Amino acid sequence: MSDLQFLYEQTALLNMASIKDTAQQLMPTLYEIKDSLEKKYTTDYASLYLPFDKELLKKVQTLVAEKKKLDPVLVVVIGIGGSNLGTMAVQKALLGKMYPQILYADTVDTDYISDLLNITERYLQQQKTVIVNVLSKSGTTTETVANFELFLALLQQYHPTNYKDYIVVTTDKDSKLWHLAEKERFSCLEIPGLVGGRFSVLSAVGLFPLGLLNITIEQLLAGAQDMQKKCLDQNLYKNPALASACIKYLHYTKGISIADMFLFSVDAEALGKWYRQLMGESLGKTVTDTTTKVGITPTVTIGSTDLHSVGQLYLGGPKDRFTTFVSFEKNKHTLAVPDNKEFGSIVANIQNRPLSSIMHAIIEGTQRAYSKTDLPFCSVILPQKNEYYLGQFLQMYMLEIIYLGKLLDVNPFDQPHVELYKKETREILAHE
Ligand code: PA5
Repeated sequence: MSDLQFLYEQTALLNMASIKDTAQQLMPTLYEIKDSLEKKYTTDYASLYLPFDKELLKKVQTLVAEKKKLDPVLVVVIGIGGSNLGTMAVQKALLGKMYPQILYADTVDTDYISDLLNITERYLQQQKTVIVNVLSKSGTTTETVANFELFLALLQQYHPTNYKDYIVVTTDKDSKLWHLAEKERFSCLEIPGLVGGRFSVLSAVGLFPLGLLNITIEQLLAGAQDMQKKCLDQNLYKNPALASACIKYLHYTKGISIADMFLFSVDAEALGKWYRQLMGESLGKTVTDTTTKVGITPTVTIGSTDLHSVGQLYLGGPKDRFTTFVSFEKNKHTLAVPDNKEFGSIVANIQNRPLSSIMHAIIEGTQRAYSKTDLPFCSVILPQKNEYYLGQFLQMYMLEIIYLGKLLDVNPFDQPHVELYKKETREILAHE
């Protein structure tokens, strides 16, 4: 199978010598990661073992098969941040943004959660099966536990004797949620201790709900495996994660502190949001043993829609961003503009043309405009929307962020300031 393409040499506006020098700094990290792979889940790089963990895959496949026997028509994913963004990214990219068979209960927005409860209740009233997957690594996230209580009460109302059959809990072993699940005899899937939330898409966190939606999780893992091998290659030209990290780092040192992921696919917006969390939460922190604060601000832009919103700013405003254009070579569908001659005088050269060829012209036109205004960028091209290439994409960017963490000298695996808001919220709730 061909690979996702990563193109940058003509457009990153950096000389190759500086990229190579930066890549050299990361060689010890590459060796360290390679050594750590045999140590499975016992190092900071634990998430890199996930694509190879056959035992985990078997457990997920078994539970997916068990729950599919109940013939589910709806999956409710209750989780936030690293506990749902990866699932959303893959599901929406593959099945579409409008796919109705999955709902995400993340924040505690009364109106939004009421809508989700109403939709779920309608299925339950028709005696259709709804599976609720509650996910929380810590097992104590306020939003997730509040939403779980609401959906649990609904399931108990419609399945008073066997509501447990419709619940799957995904959490760290020994978290408070794990103990509750054991006590209540809910099905339970474990998140390995050293696999952080935003690096957990290829664990049971992503695999179980995606498998339940008939997404081929084996191919997602196969893509990640192949990309991981590439992204541990010492040869810069064969290693897209290494090249991407070096480019973003070099631009950051020159004052370019925004990394825009510009996706030419409506369904891939969630992929951009998954990356936004990965970058924001992994890199926005204090340099080891100093008080210096660093961070690259990730933004997500959707083409061509947002060209009509922020295009002027990007092309005509301050030159403070490095852009990654993401596109798919093939769509799932084919669609052409009708051959209506009358419209030719309004917009010429689009009649009888596939929409995809118009989109390609816009992508190329946008990139030419970036080049003409000296804006640096790279391009990621996925041959098609399938599990294998998405697995490649996810793995490439998780390694890119690990490399960027090293270059910026921060710990990419913790999130002390997310914990800070969680702690403050708990205190307010305790005293109000
Ligand atoms: O990536 C992370 O670690 C965070 O974004 C968490 O996923 C998020 O805060 C939710 O935490 P938890 O999974 O513990 O409920």
